[in-house]
Amino acid sequence: MSIKLAVLASGRGSNLEAILNAIRNKSLEGSVEVVLSDNPAATAIDIGKRFAVPSFAVDRKGLSREEHESLMLDKLAGYSVDYVVLAGYMRVLSPYFLKKFEHERGFYRVINIHPSLLPAFPGKSAYEDAFAYGVRVSGVTVHLVDDQVDHGPILAQEPFPRLDNDTLDTFKARGLAVEHELYPAVLQRISREGVRLFPQASPQKVAST
Ligand code: GRF
Repeated sequence: MSIKLAVLASGRGSNLEAILNAIRNKSLEGSVEVVLSDNPAATAIDIGKRFAVPSFAVDRKGLSREEHESLMLDKLAGYSVDYVVLAGYMRVLSPYFLKKFEHERGFYRVINIHPSLLPAFPGKSAYEDAFAYGVRVSGVTVHLVDDQVDHGPILAQEPFPRLDNDTLDTFKARGLAVEHELYPAVLQRISREGVRLFPQASPQKVAST
């Protein structure tokens, strides 16, 4: 199957770009139907446009989460997508939003990438937190989104080392390179085989709200 994606991004957009490049070079069989951002200044919007993908900002400023999500859903309603892909999207999605993307198997068709080996170091500063903790190995997690932050059934994890002479910048750069490989690869696997989960991460435990 060819997977149809909506990508939500709040900032730089390097994961979006990696996904679009993978589609362009055919290592990912799919399409990004729309790019949405909550931040009008996000370079992700420029990247989407550069790849000729409809790309919009729905400014979050001054709006409650409910108001903003309902505008986002209005935009998304114009596209038919299999999965919503979060790529540095900095706003937590409510159960109201997630339920619009419920899969028949019970999980939400919403995927996130997080730059740590979850459940270690959730939150906005995972690289900084892992580095400050002094981990010898960190990694990247791609997971299905549930109603908790940086939480939900794990689709893939890829470790990377912290080297003795690393600075935070070199540590981050090593992790980001892993992100850019892993995210398109996981999406391609889903495109080919659908979502595969371990039994203990069963959808019934996910869709509890
Ligand atoms: C990445 O580190 C991603 O794992 C995290 O936010 C960052 C987004 O970077 N969720 P970019 O916008 O994709 O460059």
